[in-house]
Amino acid sequence: MTTTRVLLMGAGFMGKMHGNVYRSLPNAQLIGVVERQVERAQAYTNEFGVPAFSTLAEAQSHVDFDAVDICLPTHLHKEATIEALLAGKDVLCEKPMALSLADADEMIRVSHESGRRLMIAHCIRFWPEYAKLKELKDSGELGDLLSLNLTRYSQFPYWSSDNWLANELLSGGGVLDMHIHDTDFALYLCGEPDEMKSSGTVDEKGASHVFTTFRFGKTIVHAEGGWNLSSNAPFKMSFRAVFERGTVIWDASPFTIYRPDSAPEVVEFAQVEAEGGGNISSLGGYFVTIREFIDRLQDGKPFVVSTVESSRRSVQTVLEEIAQIKSS
Ligand SMILES: NC(=O)c1ccc[n+]([C@@H]2O[C@H](COP(=O)([O-])OP(=O)(O)OC[C@H]3O[C@@H](n4cnc5c(N)ncnc54)[C@H](O)[C@@H]3O)[C@@H](O)[C@H]2O)c1
Repeated sequence: MTTTRVLLMGAGFMGKMHGNVYRSLPNAQLIGVVERQVERAQAYTNEFGVPAFSTLAEAQSHVDFDAVDICLPTHLHKEATIEALLAGKDVLCEKPMALSLADADEMIRVSHESGRRLMIAHCIRFWPEYAKLKELKDSGELGDLLSLNLTRYSQFPYWSSDNWLANELLSGGGVLDMHIHDTDFALYLCGEPDEMKSSGTVDEKGASHVFTTFRFGKTIVHAEGGWNLSSNAPFKMSFRAVFERGTVIWDASPFTIYRPDSAPEVVEFAQVEAEGGGNISSLGGYFVTIREFIDRLQDGKPFVVSTVESSRRSVQTVLEEIAQIKSS
């Protein structure tokens, strides 16, 4: 079996999440981490057993690797992606792709010119429940999709290094950082919107809560997202899809398909077991995202589920949502 050797950049919240996935992937090996904070680097080395470096260049002079997994703060995505591509490495970069369209365009251009591959880790496209919803829509099994409600909210993510998430210039604010998951999924599911109307709230950290209504032909999608709930409020994501011949609800209860003439069907999703036991089902969508990146590098087939062009389009749409919120 081929093994893809991966260097990870950013030993924070997502860096650990991705590190756990590499432990469970049989055809990938985490070979090192780039982290600028000494204590975090040491903690990552202790937890994952890989050497830590302070820059990509330093890592290159000590270890061989094929791909770079970027879990750095969003304002560093462009610079790190381009450096890795120019070093001849394929790149998986966390979402959102970039803070601006100009940055996203540069990332795409360098990927093309360098001949190295770039995928943005839009994990919701791979999340089992959302992937099942896409399958139900595409198959036409329940008829046309009439309406979809997507929800994602939490308290402010307090964990980020140097509190970078609180700085809109570095993170893009809650709408770009968090709600982009649902905008991205809506576009992935339904294509190009005919209309989009957003309103929301703004605070010192940027656009903090959004309500957007999209119209895709006859389908109406409403997406709500925010990160300014009370500090003891939980993170939640959910959806409700109304089709011509059935309704799919996924919220606090299991994924259930309601058809008019039969008992509700509860859909079970496979759990991913971590190496050495232990249920890592909470890693489900992250696991499938990274597995897709590694598998496509190895079989040479294109990234179909998450293309850089579609990731750029999601950034563009969210930037328009933010502009509408701020101008209303
Ligand atoms: N897919 C998802 O569900 C999801 C969830 C959370 C965050 N994210 C995204 O993941 C990315 C990282 O977010 P996070 O929450 O892990 O942030 P974080 O602050 O927890 O981690 C970032 C890490 O990068 C390190 N770092 C910063 N600058 C560096 C540099 N120049 N060189 C080396 N290391 C450096 C920091 O010290 C920190 O350890 C962001 O783009 C965020 O939007 C995605």
